[in-house]
Amino acid sequence: MRIILMGPPGAGKGTQAPKIKEKYNVCHLATGDMLRAQVAKKTELGRQAKKIMDQGGLVSDEIMIGMIKSELENNSECKSGFILDGFPRTVAQAERLDAMLKARQQSLKHAVELRIDDELLVSRITGRLVHPASGRSYHKIFNPPQKSMTDDITGEPLIQRADDNEATLKKRLATYHDQTAPVISYYQKTNIWRGIDASQEPGAVWKNILGVFEKGGNGN
Ligand code: AP5
Ligand code: ZN
Repeated sequence: MRIILMGPPGAGKGTQAPKIKEKYNVCHLATGDMLRAQVAKKTELGRQAKKIMDQGGLVSDEIMIGMIKSELENNSECKSGFILDGFPRTVAQAERLDAMLKARQQSLKHAVELRIDDELLVSRITGRLVHPASGRSYHKIFNPPQKSMTDDITGEPLIQRADDNEATLKKRLATYHDQTAPVISYYQKTNIWRGIDASQEPGAVWKNILGVFEKGGNGN
């Protein structure tokens, strides 16, 4: 199963993707998590990416396409399929993904858009807590950890992302509407696109995602 999960910051991509990974035994490639791993490792790429992420902009297409290409070629978990979270984010990325898959005689099965109004995203983003090593996320109110500021599984500390403040969220949303909305239109023209109401509680969103998968899609 090859899936892309789209939606604005805070729509629930990182909340739903691990469930898809678990159910369908595919790899979960989250480009934001990959970039944050580079930032944590203090690599040159991480240093450059941090500046852009903190400003709510987009890292260059070439870098992002290279990252995804390398994972698809080398990550053995991706052999059975993948879920892309945060990629593609520009039409150029979407076109290159299509070309990459075509060269491997593969295609996408589902392009799922998590749809939600901007106003609902402020509380989701400002209340989010993250376990950096795994990318697991919680919410102070909507999905609190069992023990305050501590990851349920490892017991390690949770943090707030540097870009999770109201001012940066505004910029991330502007970038989304400007550069990623055309990607949504790109997939809406195909027969693999489905939109889901992401303003509901996480369990209801998950049920709707399963509904899309179970009704089948196209491609393989
Ligand atoms: P990225 O990490 O992808 O950030 P994003 O797209 O802004 O998305 P988020 O991770 O903020 O939201 P999410 O949808 O995963 O929400 P979550 O499930 O955690 O990218 C970060 C940056 O990296 C970008 O700004 C860019 O600079 C760069 N980048 C990444 N990919 C790139 C690319 N391809 N090209 C160029 N640059 C790239 O949920 C949020 C919160 O809400 C959580 O606390 C959660 O518990 C809660 N929540 C989730 N669902 C619900 C619900 N249904 N009800 C109530 N609360 C909920
Ligand atoms: Zn995310």
